[in-house]
Amino acid sequence: TRPLRVALLGCGVVGSEVARIMATQRDDLAARIGAPVELAGVAVRRPNRSRPGVPPELITADAVELVKRDDIDVAVEVIGGIEPARELITTAMEHGASVVTANKALLAADGAALHAAAVKHGVDLYYEAAVAGAIPLIRPLRESLAGDTVNRVLGIVNGTTNFVLDRMDTTGAGYSEALDEATTLGYAEADPTADVEGFDAAAKAAILAGIAFHTRVTAADVHREGITEVTAADIASAREMGCVVKLLAICERTADGASVTARVHPAMIPLSHPLASVREAYNAVFVEAEAAGRLMFYGPGAGGAPTASAVLGDLVAVCRNKLNGTTGPGESAYARLPVRPMGDVVTRY
Ligand code: HSE
Repeated sequence: TRPLRVALLGCGVVGSEVARIMATQRDDLAARIGAPVELAGVAVRRPNRSRPGVPPELITADAVELVKRDDIDVAVEVIGGIEPARELITTAMEHGASVVTANKALLAADGAALHAAAVKHGVDLYYEAAVAGAIPLIRPLRESLAGDTVNRVLGIVNGTTNFVLDRMDTTGAGYSEALDEATTLGYAEADPTADVEGFDAAAKAAILAGIAFHTRVTAADVHREGITEVTAADIASAREMGCVVKLLAICERTADGASVTARVHPAMIPLSHPLASVREAYNAVFVEAEAAGRLMFYGPGAGGAPTASAVLGDLVAVCRNKLNGTTGPGESAYARLPVRPMGDVVTRY
């Protein structure tokens, strides 16, 4: 069988792990997919930097040329941000490649257009790694729960802020010190403002709400408040009340079922609640569905290897689809429920 060929776009914390796992698990991946899968090129911004484990002849600074190549079956985009990621993903699709991406900002800004492009070109668009790192959430919502009615998705979806709040709570570390540590460990975004101001969590909330409620939600629809104003004194007084402070994402169907709301803000959680024991950069998400009841998804929400795990899972899925001449589930936005603004809702504690 002819090998499936992958263009890797970005080789940072996540991309380098993707390349490493593709090399070390080569035979197992081939067996699971039914054909070998190999790297055809790795597009990076700084081609001269040493990248252990990535064959130098595969490195290129010309990402556009790479995704235009006819031999590319799958483009794996782990650059992040809106541009050039959007152009590269769109160009890859135009040239017949399926796309696996971890890009929550782009999906939350323009997911509908990307899904439409995937349909137009008969390719897959998979993005399990965009939300909550290693935790399977997109596929369970899109597939396992496709026959149920989801009413609520709630939880901790940003590892960096959870790490910072946890460190401040348990070790008395200062905000900046804890944030520096999260950045060093590879949890934070390139610009950690996206984490601490709640933009990253809002993007993930938008993606989850769209899938869960079969509608379209963008990051701009999500009420957002970050953790920059949470002080050591806030955390101490929460402690005195038997609570911890967590940054929550909450997506709900309104009581009449006619609209949805989505919000991100710090909240006090009683120590007895399962979310209170989510430590460091772990994430946890509750999904409440009519028939299934209340499900909890828990695991590493950030970092190179956990995020690469989700990317690899998608890579296997889209490669199998390619071999079978099929595509997986696309956007299901038939309900088109409007997003109700949060208005004056008081989210501070
Ligand atoms: N910066 C993100 C986080 C990475 O801290 O959760 C995973 O999306």
